[in-house]
Amino acid sequence: MEDSQPRMIHLVIDGQPVDVNEGATLLDAARQAGKEVPTICYHDHCTANGLCRMCVVEVEGARLLSPACVAQAAEGMTVHTRTARVERSRRTILEMLASSVDLSDAPEIQGLMALYSADAQRFPDASRRSHPVIDDNPMYIRDYSKCVLCWRCVQVCAEDAQYTFALNFSKRGYETSIATFYDKGMMETSCVFCGQCVGVCPTGALKPKRQWLLETGMGAEDVLSQTRSKARRKRRSEHTPGND
Ligand code: SF4
Ligand code: FES
Repeated sequence: MEDSQPRMIHLVIDGQPVDVNEGATLLDAARQAGKEVPTICYHDHCTANGLCRMCVVEVEGARLLSPACVAQAAEGMTVHTRTARVERSRRTILEMLASSVDLSDAPEIQGLMALYSADAQRFPDASRRSHPVIDDNPMYIRDYSKCVLCWRCVQVCAEDAQYTFALNFSKRGYETSIATFYDKGMMETSCVFCGQCVGVCPTGALKPKRQWLLETGMGAEDVLSQTRSKARRKRRSEHTPGND
């Protein structure tokens, strides 16, 4: 008879023995051991892609640091989550982010900056991401000057949740950004305005339109008239026979 019990993996994290199911990541194992490993691109409800490298840990015998959110725990591993090398790597990642992205609406990343004593001015000559705010629908705005390219919005819009595929990466290298297909306005895409992308964005790059308008100083009445009526108009036109 086939044994359906998952195989247990035994490893040591920061000197503490941990047993995890086969297939667990180093992040799972660290959390199980009560160790705090910082993450940026990782989200509990999204597929991990190991994009930001904030979660790196040191595995004894490995040449490179391992991204804990995607690296699988293996039998007999000895892992360190807060060595000087790990901390330097995380600090540098934060400093590079701060040098090129507006993190003013990213409280979790700001907290990590303080925790790792990251110097936001370390790379003063870095070119900063600068995009005009995209205000093309009644539900949310997109401010890609604040985007850290974590890919969470792309994933919840795709197979991780909504299967809508309105968002994707555009361009390459430093020019990489999140965009709609052919840069269409959001109303012309397959977006159903579920709001899940806004919910998972860690930096305020995606923000509810009403919140954004209130932050600009607009009064509540004007905010409602700007957003509610347009939303209603869109819904009404979608439900009008012959408009599909
Ligand atoms: S818009 Fe937000 S969720 Fe999407 S990639 Fe940028 S930071 Fe991440
Ligand atoms: S949190 Fe692991 S690579 Fe981003």
